[in-house]
Amino acid sequence: MTGAAELFESTANGAPAGIWSAPGRVNLIGEHTDYNDGFVLPFAIQQRTHVALGTREDGRIRVVSTFDADAVEVGLAELEALFPARRSDVPEWATYPLGVAWALLRATGTDPASVTGVDLAIASDVPIGAGLSSSAAIEGAVAAALNDTWRLGLDRVALAQVGRTAENEAVGAPTGIMDQMASMLGRADAAIFLDCRSLEASVIDLGFADAGLQLVVIDTGVKHSHATGGYGERRASCERGAAIMGVPALRDVSVADLPRAEQLMDDETFRRVRHIVTENQRVLDTVTALREHGPRSIGDLLLASHASMRDDFEISVAELDTAVEAAMAAGAVGARMTGGGFGGAAIALVAHADVRRVMDAAAAAFAASGFAAPTMFTVVPSAGAGREA
Ligand code: GLA
Repeated sequence: MTGAAELFESTANGAPAGIWSAPGRVNLIGEHTDYNDGFVLPFAIQQRTHVALGTREDGRIRVVSTFDADAVEVGLAELEALFPARRSDVPEWATYPLGVAWALLRATGTDPASVTGVDLAIASDVPIGAGLSSSAAIEGAVAAALNDTWRLGLDRVALAQVGRTAENEAVGAPTGIMDQMASMLGRADAAIFLDCRSLEASVIDLGFADAGLQLVVIDTGVKHSHATGGYGERRASCERGAAIMGVPALRDVSVADLPRAEQLMDDETFRRVRHIVTENQRVLDTVTALREHGPRSIGDLLLASHASMRDDFEISVAELDTAVEAAMAAGAVGARMTGGGFGGAAIALVAHADVRRVMDAAAAAFAASGFAAPTMFTVVPSAGAGREA
């Protein structure tokens, strides 16, 4: 049982017709590069969101979840009136599944009267607000379930785009495509090297286990939201920088162009641009290093990425810096904050024998700084969204 099946059985009639799931993700490297048409290297993790689905005859969609005691139910024909401006009586968690249903119908030009009503029960073990894409996991699982049930025939890339539309337009977070693509395309023991302009994806072997390494997540517990504040401001700075450079996106600016960029823009915009440009290069360098020398060779790239986010993009927080420093001092191969920033989690690549030491060191450093204790666990690169039963 997945939790979703039990929730379904206790809230709807009978057993579900099927169960689908989608994972959260960790981004190994390539932060804030996705909406700049650049490169990212995320992998799906073992923590997943499960959706149990049953059909119903009345053309309505009803969602229940482990996030909230109350069910939310609307007619499929009413979805068009709910979004993009979310009606205030729809609780935030429900905008993810209902937003996916809305975006899926719209993307495929499907008349809501032509598809069956559904009951959805959603259960997730992806930590919320940790920067591990709990939202993309909900979107991916619901998109896969409805795509199959409604026989819409969308492929995984199209389903990732539906998830992003829900996130951008129904939830209102101006995010890129990375999280949904990672959740859809993930593979065991591998990362997804994604070109966010062409959406071309390649599978890159990580080989953590063979190299005797583990990936430790240090969740600071500092909550963030990308629907408000800093994330959108960073995105606006990047767009300003691209306009000043006369290119469609910062993807089109190279490291060699940076001296010219520095002449043309104010210091803050330049530092935002420098993060994106150097981070894109670090993703390419990481892919080369993984292919040629294996995962023990990427530590310096992870650290350089963190320093760039801390100093140039300014999206780190004291807890994330403390986690990275403590992990490195305890012998990690490399470490950086992961995800959108302003809170969430850091990752550390650690030799198997040092995992306990790194976790103890991070816990001690947090205590010494007066921060609340972090939540720590290891993650395993895992498969993407799909039908479970
Ligand atoms: C969040 C967004 C992604 C990406 C990252 C930063 O996770 O959802 O699209 O921009 O932040 O790399």
